[in-house]
Amino acid sequence: MFVGSQRHPLSIAKMLMVIFLTTCGLVWSHQVNQYCERDSDHCSELLRLEDPHGYLDKHFKCKYPEVAECQQMAAFYDTGPEYQRYEHVTYFEPDDVDEESDIIVVPGKTHTMISKAIYPPIYEVEDFLTDEECDYIIERAKASGMTQSGGLGVNINVESQSKTSEDVSRISQQTLLYINENDKVVNSILDRVSKLTRMPRKYIQESEAIQVVSYEAGGHYHGHMDTTDTDLDEDLEELPCCHQTQCQSDLDVGSCCRVCRYITVLLYLNDVDEGGETAFPLADFPDKYIQEIATETPDFTNLSKHCGGDSVIVKPKKRKAIWWYNHEKDADTGLIGASIPHSLHGGCDVKKGTKWVANIWINVLPYNHWDKPSVFNV
Ligand SMILES: *[C@@H]1O[C@H](CO)[C@@H](O)[C@H](O)[C@H]1NC(C)=O
Repeated sequence: MFVGSQRHPLSIAKMLMVIFLTTCGLVWSHQVNQYCERDSDHCSELLRLEDPHGYLDKHFKCKYPEVAECQQMAAFYDTGPEYQRYEHVTYFEPDDVDEESDIIVVPGKTHTMISKAIYPPIYEVEDFLTDEECDYIIERAKASGMTQSGGLGVNINVESQSKTSEDVSRISQQTLLYINENDKVVNSILDRVSKLTRMPRKYIQESEAIQVVSYEAGGHYHGHMDTTDTDLDEDLEELPCCHQTQCQSDLDVGSCCRVCRYITVLLYLNDVDEGGETAFPLADFPDKYIQEIATETPDFTNLSKHCGGDSVIVKPKKRKAIWWYNHEKDADTGLIGASIPHSLHGGCDVKKGTKWVANIWINVLPYNHWDKPSVFNV
């Protein structure tokens, strides 16, 4: 069954809020994490904060077209009528690897965010969750019943790997946690995810259910992308995203729809005794190297064999979050752009103990299907 059908209906108040947000031409302030109405004092105030050089007028038009930053800002704010339903996505690129920045995702507390790669941007934040939150998610997952994971680990995607073979691509158990408006813990985490990624909360609310996964010793997930790789076949870009359709079957991916996961936020819910690292074998490597590795080491995605080397490696640690972009931002439309093959990643073998993680995918709409609502927006 398609996952969207199990969601709780929105309350009237929330529905009015959604209508309000989608019809008033509000824009998202990435610095202050707020919506504002273009002509309001509030927006002028936000603009003062975000545009200290005065590049933009209050309609967010570029005053100095020759200045690149001005063009960038104007592109960010230019929500022409056809794009008004959805705010532009954000895309933050670090200047360097291991760059630290202070972020505020919980009032009165500062977290340090460390960049692990530039392409795709990958970031790590320790203590993003509390111990209680980690334990709560694990308990909720256990209560809802864990089942064997599919090949690509996407609930709206192909179960392409045979489970009968000795070594399947993914050995793990999983379940889905639906975003229930009464669940204060999960909603508080999603508020934080919005601040972390500086993506509108609306997008997160209209995204897939949270996937909780556990791996026992020997468990792993070989290198894969979380999203449909449109690089391989540009025609795929013509398809609507799966979260905009009623495509029912995993087999529909690639014919009826494509998976559109702009950002992945991966939460580590426990400490693993040994192993279970997350690896990004292609992050920050030039395309030329990727062609080389694909011919010279065709099984490079086998993370039981190739966990380490020059890959970006993240060790699991309770309360930690990492997040990265699976897509670029489309410079013209401000919406989801090309998929990033360098976002290929997976989970190395758990050597000792159990590993628990949660995946939060932020789905967004492509420019050619911007008017199709998300099925999660019920
Ligand atoms: C991955 O590598 C391991 C260790 O060398 C091997 O046992 C396994 O069969 C390989 N899996 C695949 C899918 O190639």
